[in-house]
Amino acid sequence: MQLYIDTANLDEIKAAHDFGVLDGVTTNPTLIAKEKIDYSTRLAEICRVVSGPVSAEVIATDTKAMLAEGKRLASIAPNIVVKLPSTVDGLRACKAFSDQGIKTNMTLCFQSLQAWMVAKAGAFLVSPFIGRLDDIGEDGMNLIRDIRRVYDNYGYKTLVLAASVRHSNHLLQCALAGADVATCPFKVIQDCMKHPLTDQGIERFLADYKKAFG
Ligand code: E4P
Repeated sequence: MQLYIDTANLDEIKAAHDFGVLDGVTTNPTLIAKEKIDYSTRLAEICRVVSGPVSAEVIATDTKAMLAEGKRLASIAPNIVVKLPSTVDGLRACKAFSDQGIKTNMTLCFQSLQAWMVAKAGAFLVSPFIGRLDDIGEDGMNLIRDIRRVYDNYGYKTLVLAASVRHSNHLLQCALAGADVATCPFKVIQDCMKHPLTDQGIERFLADYKKAFG
């Protein structure tokens, strides 16, 4: 499973990239708003650090404006992926971009049929939001499983990007469910390599070694 970081914070992106296992970045309007910096400037900075796909989300809500904004975002760097909402307008823009060879990430996907439609339109990525479904009492992971099954049934090439990942167990369940990619906050990435027994084990090994050899 590929690992993306879900942030617009450059320090977090650099730190995650330094782990050596980061495949890409996702951003959204909420994440860039926290940074209080021009979106294009930050995207250019991110693309200088990460060579994998960097998702840049449009603010526009109608197809024509999405196409204009998406084109401008895609011109920032060759690894920009235009992030569009999973609406009818977004679907039209997705089809137009895929016909032009511009990669898209179809975001805010909450049902398998949205994922099916965007795959037909040639989306590069689809982003089902697990955490936000859990928040309303549904099981977000079922959406990942269902999309995986639909895509495998028909051989769709669109990658399933599990989004709205809130904790490391989400990440494990995504990998078990066959998500192609998971995007998550830096803390969740850090948590993947943490276990109290690992720390205790290191302490005990060092203590035993010191006792024997000084
Ligand atoms: C995905 O690309 C989104 O940026 C993100 O995962 C949203 O997550 P949230 O529900 O924690 O805001």
